[in-house]
Amino acid sequence: MAASIFNRTEYEKRIAWFQSARFGLFLHFGLYSIPARGEWVRSDEKMPEEEYLPFFEGFDPTCFDAKKWARAAKQAGMKYAVLTAKHHDGFCLFDSQYTDFKSTNTPFGRDIVREYVEAFREEGLKVGLYYSLLDWHHPDYPHYGDRHHPLREDASQGNEHRNWDNYIRYFHNQVRELCTGYGKLDLLWFDFSYDDMRGEKWHASQLVEMVRSLQPGLLIDNRLEVSGEGFGSLYQCKPTPYHGDFITPEKMIPPQGLQDVEGKDLCWESCITMNNNWGYARDDHAFKPASMLIKKLVECVSKGGNMILNVGPMGNGAFPKESLEILQEIGNWMAVNGESIYGCGKAGLEKPDFGRFTAKGNTLYLHVYENAIGPLPVPQLPISRVQSVRRLCDGAEVKISASWVHSDYPDVCFLDLGPNPVLPDEIDTVLKVTLK
Ligand code: GLC
Repeated sequence: MAASIFNRTEYEKRIAWFQSARFGLFLHFGLYSIPARGEWVRSDEKMPEEEYLPFFEGFDPTCFDAKKWARAAKQAGMKYAVLTAKHHDGFCLFDSQYTDFKSTNTPFGRDIVREYVEAFREEGLKVGLYYSLLDWHHPDYPHYGDRHHPLREDASQGNEHRNWDNYIRYFHNQVRELCTGYGKLDLLWFDFSYDDMRGEKWHASQLVEMVRSLQPGLLIDNRLEVSGEGFGSLYQCKPTPYHGDFITPEKMIPPQGLQDVEGKDLCWESCITMNNNWGYARDDHAFKPASMLIKKLVECVSKGGNMILNVGPMGNGAFPKESLEILQEIGNWMAVNGESIYGCGKAGLEKPDFGRFTAKGNTLYLHVYENAIGPLPVPQLPISRVQSVRRLCDGAEVKISASWVHSDYPDVCFLDLGPNPVLPDEIDTVLKVTLK
């Protein structure tokens, strides 16, 4: 690592809470929640701004209640949240002095970011803000020929008259507003770099220096350098001044977790949608079952990473019914088994047949998705090191089996899960093994 730029001790102190929290809520809310065809609707449909403005003029999410959002997140066992303060459409959910395209200029008239940070802090969650580097509303952001802009194919939208420095000044000023006007922030989630639009094109060193001076403990993601594709300079062990503090695999879980080019574990967070959209999509009912998402959270932790799970609130500000039900079911599991997630990470053992391992100090958590025929074999677990085994669901003792059926395997640890082949929790029954 380049010592002049990167202080590993400071870095590891900064990311400690994040690596312990493991589970967060992503919130994609904005004007796009009204057309309800996902947050890229303007770009996907090459929508001119005059077709989009009615959503601004009519924005009035009367069911928005940040306290309800925060309670749902807390009940789900989430320890932090990230809300879109500005997405690619340029609409600001906060009372920015640098634009009129903001929630306080709509019929709703409120600063949603302020209500969000206050409500989530009240529930004890860490607060993060997502800020899009792209801005399809700002006149100085490239239009014609840009890869993503809604007017990218409109030759009348040339860029000769656009002043990139104006845009840089605008977005840096807005980030300053967020870093000075909303109390202590815990996380800034920039999104995203593409083509030559990365790094110092965003004046990233200047931006991060300002952010870190205003919010010293803040975590920043890696998308000033890359997007969901690419890892960034921390992975390369050549950290830039704007290196991300964590890698942001998107809508996937890294097969082996993530290590840098020198083989050291990296801090990473898989961002995952409940259906297939970040922003509310009325016709997208392809929701992942809670049982699947619980196992994906376990998978992320078993590989040393976090999972941030997205909710796209509807245009009226309420969470979709499916999202609420999924959060509730995840929360029921987390209420019993959260200790096998929080503060846990890789066990350094080969993945077991029955499910997954997570670990914390001298405690190993066995996530048993599938029971065995007869006592449960755990070849990865030296019998001599087992001090105790308990089921998290009821604290009941689990004995090491002495059954004859596995007498041919004296060196393998078999656990006696009792006569009932149906496990207490059919999603994931967690066994807590305290090691000597
Ligand atoms: C991608 C999408 C963006 C979304 C982000 C969340 O960058 O373009 O819409 O907010 O992923 O990770």
